[in-house]
Amino acid sequence: MNISFKNQVAFVTGGAGGIGYATARAFAEAGAAVSIAGDHEDAAKSAAATLTKAGHRALGLRCDVADEASVAAAIDATVGVFGRLDFAYNNAGLHAPSVETADALAKDFDRVIAVNLRGVWACMKHELRQMRKQGSGAIVNCSSQSGLAGIAGLAAYTASKHGVVGLTKAAALEYARKGIRINVICPGTVDTPMVAKAMADHPAEMQAVIDDIPLGRMGTPEEIASAVLWLCSPGAGFMIGQVVAPDGGYTAR
Ligand SMILES: NC(=O)c1ccc[n+]([C@@H]2O[C@H](COP(=O)([O-])OP(=O)(O)OC[C@H]3O[C@@H](n4cnc5c(N)ncnc54)[C@H](O)[C@@H]3O)[C@@H](O)[C@H]2O)c1
Repeated sequence: MNISFKNQVAFVTGGAGGIGYATARAFAEAGAAVSIAGDHEDAAKSAAATLTKAGHRALGLRCDVADEASVAAAIDATVGVFGRLDFAYNNAGLHAPSVETADALAKDFDRVIAVNLRGVWACMKHELRQMRKQGSGAIVNCSSQSGLAGIAGLAAYTASKHGVVGLTKAAALEYARKGIRINVICPGTVDTPMVAKAMADHPAEMQAVIDDIPLGRMGTPEEIASAVLWLCSPGAGFMIGQVVAPDGGYTAR
């Protein structure tokens, strides 16, 4: 994609691997300075070091999105180093164990909601405080195809991802006339460490999921990154509170 984000700053949560890293690298290759925030400090710093070695401006930070103070500190540190915040991709998330709802544990439900939904809320809150001061910015939240359709065995994950869609739409309306655009992506099944783990744990079920993708294959992290970058670009200037679903046709049925 031919997008230039020169002299602009991007913040990516869960950016040490998978879709997050592909997106952080895409922002960097488009000229932005990138802050990679993740729950494992070493992994975040090492991902940032790889980008720095390639000639980009990057910062690796510890940030647990389930802890609002940690989120606020990571965003403050990003603005402290790079001076501003233009883009945020709220990507950090985790999968819940696949379980029948009658057997699910409250602690698993609470953890998935704390990271996937409250984490996105906390990130948006503190990103918006900076963007509101600037009067500009673009935020993309990460939901899932499970934010648009129910997936049996994944009720808590499905609820968290549906919640991200609602959170995005409401916040997007608040900031529509304040120079800040907020949208949400709902990826289908993408070849990342999260899916590799699910594949190792439940090979037959995961193969069935892949066979069910209308396109006939998983997506790549780079295909999701390009959707995020486009949503942040001036070309998406009329997109407010929209759901973009790079899912190989999964939700087209
Ligand atoms: N891979 C898929 O098929 C797929 C499909 C739809 C949506 N998603 C969503 O995309 C996002 C990225 O997924 P991925 O497949 O790249 O997974 P991944 O497991 O490879 O990456 C998730 C990242 O989030 C980080 N993270 C987890 N908990 C965190 C916390 N509390 N604070 C900060 N960082 C934390 C992890 O360390 C990891 O770097 C997730 O929100 C996931 O739900 C993935």
